Amino acid sequence: MPTPLPSGDEVDESVLQIWGKTRLSGHVTISGAKNSALAIMAGALLCPEDCRLRNVPSLVDVGRMSEILAALGVKLQRNGNILDINASQISQSQAPYELVSQLRASFFVMGPMLARLGVARVPLPGGCAIGARPVDLHVRGLQQMGADVQIDRGVVLARTRQQRLTGAKIYLDYPSVGATETLMMAATLADGETILENAAQEPEVVDLANFCRSMGAQIRGAGTNTIIINGVPKLHSTDYNIIPDRIEAGTFLVAGAATYSEISLSPIIPDHLTPVIAKLEATGAKIVMDAPDRMRIIPGSSIRPTDIETLPYPGFPTDMQAQFMALLTLSEGSSVITETVFENRLRHVAELSRMGADIRVKGNLAIVRGVPFLSGAPVVATDLRASAALVIAALAAEGQTTIQGLHHLDRGYEELEVKLQQLGANLKRVSIQTSPTEAEKPATSPQEAKVKPAS
Ligand code: UD1
Repeated sequence: MPTPLPSGDEVDESVLQIWGKTRLSGHVTISGAKNSALAIMAGALLCPEDCRLRNVPSLVDVGRMSEILAALGVKLQRNGNILDINASQISQSQAPYELVSQLRASFFVMGPMLARLGVARVPLPGGCAIGARPVDLHVRGLQQMGADVQIDRGVVLARTRQQRLTGAKIYLDYPSVGATETLMMAATLADGETILENAAQEPEVVDLANFCRSMGAQIRGAGTNTIIINGVPKLHSTDYNIIPDRIEAGTFLVAGAATYSEISLSPIIPDHLTPVIAKLEATGAKIVMDAPDRMRIIPGSSIRPTDIETLPYPGFPTDMQAQFMALLTLSEGSSVITETVFENRLRHVAELSRMGADIRVKGNLAIVRGVPFLSGAPVVATDLRASAALVIAALAAEGQTTIQGLHHLDRGYEELEVKLQQLGANLKRVSIQTSPTEAEKPATSPQEAKVKPAS
């Protein structure tokens, strides 16, 4: 039986109640990478034949991307973690605003649509909680490849001047993941050679390149800062397996370190976790490999402080900054965390402080002074990775924490509660009887939140 596609409209109004100080143990299975899946789903627009994607996580963001593709006339069918996509007919060149506004990654459809149809209209995805997140690098690169691009009343309208895009030498001012992916996809069907310089090197960029290559695209250098794409007239059918999610894996490793728990994870690609492992070891934890795709964290006897600076890959990932901040609030000393990738990604500080953390923010720096313990409190998730940080803090804290704003969590973590429960964590999701606006505000105390068990 095909599984229904998860709907992006299903905004959760429940809260997560977590009773902390439980030692976790056991094994957790890591899902497919969200950021790969979103880009690869858009990449399937390049192919006029069947694409089978495996290891696709069941997430609200994946549901939203499915809805966007369906609105463009693409046929999708989901069966467990297999997603079949057939983009032989693209009936629409305009992505619907209501859907694009909910998912920034939906801008990824711009490159493939332009390459395939010669025209694409995509509403500007707008800013989000962690920063302005412009798309100027995407747009400038497409212009260099021969597209006329106009922005009219919030909609980016792009048309190719020739029948196809033309290869170009493009230097990215910043190694943007999204711009690298947009331009790499667009170049697969362009006329001639495209060279992307100062390209992003993230594993998800490599995964997208490998997916495109499995359809016959000619791409070299993905994973380095220079990617060379030789355009081909047409791509063909594929069956492709998405890589494991390094950020989900990193989140569980940090949860292990913060709760002094030994837990193992698989499947993982250890190289993708190098900066995360280095920082966990700096805090005193040990990471051992039990198999080439399976690792185990052995916690240290205490948590040592360490400084962190987020950077493009292979630097420390911004998507792990909030989780490490939660860990370092419990360290035996002071750590400086510098966020260089996004301008507004320290909003979890206020929520961690409600739990007793000692953190001072100066611009893009957070100075974290370790405290002996955190206390459970009602808190609100402000973005996806901030919600993961609050879960980690709650697991390590004394008493009960109630986390609101779970729609952020559900965007990017597949079955987080189930996985944590399997590790022995004491938590449950309960639905909350408040209006959507009230659901953004913390309840005065967990007891005062009007809760009923989630169905
Ligand atoms: C992707 C990831 C996100 C991750 C981020 C950085 C997906 C779906 N999301 O986001 O989880 O945190 O990479 O690793 O893959 N910028 C510009 N102009 C542009 C594009 C980006 O100024 O045209 C800036 C952004 O505002 C930001 C920085 O570059 O400050 C990095 O953004 P980028 O690498 O593009 O991140 P995303 O692709 O949006």
